Amino acid sequence: MFAGRPTGLYHAANLSDEYGCDIYLKRGDLLHGGAHKINNTVGQALLAERMGKDRLIAETGAGQHGVATAMAGAYFDMDVEIFMGREDIQRQRMNALRMEKLGAELRPVERGSATLKEATTAALKEYIETSGSTHYLIGSAVGPEPYPEMVRFFQSVIGSEARRQFQSQEGNLPDAVFACVGGGSNAAGIFSGFVDDSNVDLYGAEAGGSEDTDRSAAALSNGEPGIFHGFKSYLLQDSNGNISPTDSISAGLDYPGVGPMHSRLKELERAEYHPVTDEEALEAFDDLSRLEGIIPALEPSHALALAKKHAGSHATVIVNMCGRGDKDMENIAEVEDFELG
Ligand SMILES: Cc1ncc(COP(=O)(O)O)c(C=O)c1O
Repeated sequence: MFAGRPTGLYHAANLSDEYGCDIYLKRGDLLHGGAHKINNTVGQALLAERMGKDRLIAETGAGQHGVATAMAGAYFDMDVEIFMGREDIQRQRMNALRMEKLGAELRPVERGSATLKEATTAALKEYIETSGSTHYLIGSAVGPEPYPEMVRFFQSVIGSEARRQFQSQEGNLPDAVFACVGGGSNAAGIFSGFVDDSNVDLYGAEAGGSEDTDRSAAALSNGEPGIFHGFKSYLLQDSNGNISPTDSISAGLDYPGVGPMHSRLKELERAEYHPVTDEEALEAFDDLSRLEGIIPALEPSHALALAKKHAGSHATVIVNMCGRGDKDMENIAEVEDFELG
């Protein structure tokens, strides 16, 4: 009830006409806080309470996980500190403000590119020093065991709900499921509902960066196996194993690694992962806003853009609409030199 589950599975009729295949949106954008992150933060906060810990720390990129952790901390009466890169504080100012209003302390991270990678490093370091009293509430399916599996488990509610809803609405299963992949939690969550259905194709959309640069945040598409932040997976790195700089319009996808379960699904050829450029994501963002009256977050706009590219080869698809776009409006206005009136 607190989180707002179950969320609907919505047939986007206007978008389906435009793209030429039946598109269903799993409406994580309607969850409390505006993204799927709350599924995981409520689960881990309950666990922290059970372990007798009264302080939560977290990293955040887009700010959605920071907001969801702050909401869980307020609800469960725990102290909350959020590590967030200075660059992300600039591009997600509204979420930084929301965290403070929810009673969390913001810990700005200045190092390196001052984005999610550095925020995660700072939070891990803090956790190593304070693990006796503190739970590190990781926001994606990354980090040392048991985090990837635990986060996937808390997010698997997306996939089990979507599968049940599609079956009861349509009487069968979709041809394909699309999700964006940052650290990989929303994708791991929705894929888990369909991974055993070999006739349902699984697609992950990675951040391909801008067409004007050769940087991306597409670890599975452009990376190599390596070890980082306590887990082994595909990573963007140079030939010496140093992590490469990343770039994406979407703060939530701007991370050089990906949850290890996605590396496995890629190697088993059970899921396909493709880069989507900033420009393609912005086009999909406009499509959904204008055709359906739903403003998506920039992260799932990548998933929608990938679905648009593959629409010709599938009759029915689910796109995991894992967050809403309010947090991105200032950023988009700046990118597009938008002026009111
Ligand atoms: C709305 C939204 N979608 C997706 C992501 C990416 O995270 P993940 O790949 O773990 O789902 C984020 C991260 O902040 C987000 O805010």
